[in-house]
Amino acid sequence: MNSGFFENPTWTYGGGLYHVKANDRLMIDNLMDLTHETCVHANSIGQPEIDEAPCTTMVEGDQVILQRHMTGIQAPPFWQMDMSANGLDPQAQVNRWQICRFIPPTHIMIDVGVALAGQGGFDAAPERKAYSVVVDFITPETETSHWYQWGMARQFKPHDAALTDKIRADQGGIFNEDMEMLQLQQANICQWPDRKLLMPNIYSDGVQSRRIIERLLALENIPVVTA
Ligand SMILES: [Fe+2]
Repeated sequence: MNSGFFENPTWTYGGGLYHVKANDRLMIDNLMDLTHETCVHANSIGQPEIDEAPCTTMVEGDQVILQRHMTGIQAPPFWQMDMSANGLDPQAQVNRWQICRFIPPTHIMIDVGVALAGQGGFDAAPERKAYSVVVDFITPETETSHWYQWGMARQFKPHDAALTDKIRADQGGIFNEDMEMLQLQQANICQWPDRKLLMPNIYSDGVQSRRIIERLLALENIPVVTA
């Protein structure tokens, strides 16, 4: 993960804060899931190739890393806009990456971007790609609510304030779609509290993240409350 953007003038940042009426673990499940984009975000970052490219999961100590790489595809609308902003042909074939990193207790950083196909993908030169880091800080409030600080740090056109506003608005819209889904999930959980969450893949990234949280809570003798 690139974390050099904090004090680097070639990077900039825009973001916001949402109050979400859902347990914080549901947000972690959501951010550590790269399968919902085609249905929840079909008009922005979703695309059919997502369902065709496998994800890999790694656990490194207390961190979970989930990634997907797609090669030789057309960028979805959100990334076409970013390619245009960085002077790239939005119709060009690209390689796309998503690298999610869960860092306990509750934050997630996601490397995301597209690079012109054949130019090195994630490692391509800055002028050959549109590269960002999605920043997610989650603060639990109650068993059924949390505060979600979200944003995007980007490596291209850092002084373009209008672009920062546009990306913030687009990203805010994408996270609104997630928020609506999470709040409906929480409403269902409250309505049927005796039903357990379905976790069909115990090796999935959300499940691994939950296990790390539970292990760390156990070390502090804090009772685990599952959403
Ligand atoms: Fe989402």
